[in-house]
Amino acid sequence: MRAIDRTRRSWAEPYKIKVVEPIKMTTRPYREERIREAGYNTFLLKSEDVYIDLLTDSGTGAMSDNQWAGMMLGDEAYAGSKNFDHLAEAVQTYYGYRYIVPTHQGRAAEHILSKVMIKQGDTIPGNMYFTTTRLHQELAGGRFVDVIMDEAHDPQSEHPFKGDIDLNKLQSWIAKVGPERIPYVSFAGTVNMAGGQPVSMRNFREVHALCRKHGIKIMLDATRMAENCYFIKMREPGYADKTIAEIMREACCYSDGATMSAKKDNLANIGGWLAVNDEETYQKCCNLLVVYEGLQTYGGMAGRDMEAVARGIEECVQDDHIRARVGQVEYLGNLLLQEGIPVVKPIGGHAVFLDAKRFLRHIPQDDYPAQALAAELYVESGVRAMERGIISAGRDPETGENYHPKLELVRLTIPRRVYTQAHMDVTAESVVALWDRRDRIRGLEFEYEPKMLRFFQARFRKKE
Ligand SMILES: Cc1ncc(COP(=O)(O)O)c(C=O)c1O
Repeated sequence: MRAIDRTRRSWAEPYKIKVVEPIKMTTRPYREERIREAGYNTFLLKSEDVYIDLLTDSGTGAMSDNQWAGMMLGDEAYAGSKNFDHLAEAVQTYYGYRYIVPTHQGRAAEHILSKVMIKQGDTIPGNMYFTTTRLHQELAGGRFVDVIMDEAHDPQSEHPFKGDIDLNKLQSWIAKVGPERIPYVSFAGTVNMAGGQPVSMRNFREVHALCRKHGIKIMLDATRMAENCYFIKMREPGYADKTIAEIMREACCYSDGATMSAKKDNLANIGGWLAVNDEETYQKCCNLLVVYEGLQTYGGMAGRDMEAVARGIEECVQDDHIRARVGQVEYLGNLLLQEGIPVVKPIGGHAVFLDAKRFLRHIPQDDYPAQALAAELYVESGVRAMERGIISAGRDPETGENYHPKLELVRLTIPRRVYTQAHMDVTAESVVALWDRRDRIRGLEFEYEPKMLRFFQARFRKKE
């Protein structure tokens, strides 16, 4: 039993639960069989065989009663749906961009943007790659260049804004290739692959000033910007008294547009959008949209889904919501830190990342320690996590060699408004139990390796 600490007051989730979905407990032999069938890839497990699902925070959040009510107000007209107007208004109000293009999810926005803006041989500097973002840049003929600060690659660095772009790296890259070969800087608000690490307002401002000087655009990956804004409020001088909504408007004004996976911050189960301030780019995006997604007033979404996103946008910038959301992640992270488990520090906005290199020192990176650790966590307790290391990084398109990222991580991603503190306790206990038997975990080798985004569909076997 936990003792009450009289020196502090706890906070609780700013909502109560109205609908529940039962989850099932399974036995270890059952899970051993399931993960073997799934080729030791947690993406290939059936959801019904998972106890606590921390695979991703993408589309897995719980919608509010207000969002569900909005679903009944779907205007499913092929053209001119009023739900699109609500969506566009919400993005304009809270993010501040001028023109809004709806898409079925984030990677569709990346696809359209990359095709419109990137020419063969261009390079796109950014603050660490994201899997789908980089792939679409490459498919459009570009090459991603990482200009994030060095601390981002060090899981033990406690820098408060590890998502910041290193201005010297960016400046040198501009000098090397020339601004005309840089269609835009790809800037992510909280950097997923670095451990959910935020960008400071100062850095947003400085990168903007540098890019303006050279006539280079900035496209924001706004997928988890609300979470980024919470870190600015908590950590950056001058922002403690501002609301998340105010911080968001300021941060976004330092970019020329954004791609968005509405399945994260925006609290919807499906959806996305692309936003730009420039009319000509908007027209080009709309033109490609009808080829790949749908008309400019639905872009692959149902009217009801656009309504859910519009309402989700308004909810995601509420200070109480975001405090509880990031607070829950921090709670899990602190439990693990207290037990001496190697995790990425500081704790990120959407997930706690286990450092597989330090967790499984006996498994070399080419034997996929993070993939093996995620599979073993499922066997241990039915908790499903995801690899974020060498498998996710994929291969260099020019040499065909594996990228070897410095970070070899397992991501315990917390869906929004879904799990309770007790689920976090159970998760922490499972990780600790695994830590205690870590020496017996073995590496993996590929049985099947897909060409693109291999982490989703790859199959593995245990190494002898
Ligand atoms: C930072 C970031 N950008 C883009 C995406 C792609 O979004 P989607 O999964 O909606 O295609 C994701 C999804 O995980 C993400 O985390």
